[in-house]
Amino acid sequence: MLPNGPPAWPISDAAIQQVFTELQASGAWGKYHAEHTTQLVKLLKAAYQAEHVLLTSSGTAAVELALRGLKISNGDEVILAAYDFKANFINVTLLGATPVLVDISKDDGQLDVAEIEQAISPQTKAILTSHLHGGMVDMPKLREVAQTHGLSIIEDCCQTSSQASIDKQSVGKFGDVAVLSFGGSKLLSAGRGGAVLTCRDDIAQRIRLYTQRGNEAYPLSEMQAAILEPQLDQLRDRHQRRLEAVTAIRNLSDQLQGLCPFSTRPETTADYYKLGFWYDADSFAGLSRETFCRAMRAEGIPFDPGFAALHRIHSRRRFRQAGRLEHADAAHESLVILHHPFLLQGAIAAQQLSQALEKIKAHPIRL
Ligand SMILES: Cc1ncc(COP(=O)(O)O)c(C=O)c1O
Repeated sequence: MLPNGPPAWPISDAAIQQVFTELQASGAWGKYHAEHTTQLVKLLKAAYQAEHVLLTSSGTAAVELALRGLKISNGDEVILAAYDFKANFINVTLLGATPVLVDISKDDGQLDVAEIEQAISPQTKAILTSHLHGGMVDMPKLREVAQTHGLSIIEDCCQTSSQASIDKQSVGKFGDVAVLSFGGSKLLSAGRGGAVLTCRDDIAQRIRLYTQRGNEAYPLSEMQAAILEPQLDQLRDRHQRRLEAVTAIRNLSDQLQGLCPFSTRPETTADYYKLGFWYDADSFAGLSRETFCRAMRAEGIPFDPGFAALHRIHSRRRFRQAGRLEHADAAHESLVILHHPFLLQGAIAAQQLSQALEKIKAHPIRL
């Protein structure tokens, strides 16, 4: 077992300590306006090559604003994966639109782009898709489908970072609008916060009309922005360490029996807010997914069950289902996720994971 249980987040960080000292000295922590939000917008524009960056109070607010920016309203339909973040579903319904749920793919756990066309109706306006648990949605293919049918795309990058790329293009550029989260568990953490990114003037303008009411309705504070700035500098190095950890974990192959990590497609580089695995209880003497996660946590390895699938927790009146959603059903029952602070250890993480798995397999009855 690791000495102190699962690694803490946020981690102790001299760069953040320095920010607090400077905020105290400048008084920027208590001001409506100082230089930090302006600087953060500049840094995010560069990192994501976005024309417009609108800072928000959360990723959830950013998704709502992205939908508003696309004029989603009463009677419209928005396609999303049946396995996705719950608030994305709620945001669609909040605007009077209907979520249309499609399946995920078995290999990589992401929205299955091949399922989209059967889901389209005359009411369909947009596709809202998230890169989830270290997987990468096939955005080039999704774009082709969207263009063919005149649909807009919202690319939810809340679970990844600007270090993730597809065909050497960093994420956040594949849709009409993208969203980020700076929530307390995220790769860039400010406790709360988010952003909308777009290169379309009309979307940015519509969002501004909604958020700026003589006062900012969904603000990110100067203090939050200041805390995010050094994290952008650290991102590349931390991304490398997470990547090393995931590569070493994937190479465990035999020791991982019963735990199958999400695959990533060729020509993509993911960043890992979480790493998703399909859990097979039979390989662990029938241990339930919940008990497995508890046992791994006791060994210092931060596993949790994945999300609930959206069609399993919402009334059928609130969504339209396209197809059988068998893989989303499987995800509802058997996905587990490993959290990123553990991956920051680099390749050592794989050894620790392997030892913990061996131990749990050797003593399943006692659990
Ligand atoms: C895929 C996805 N979208 C949106 C969000 C919302 O972000 P926030 O917690 O900042 O509201 C999250 C948060 O975990 C997420 O995982």
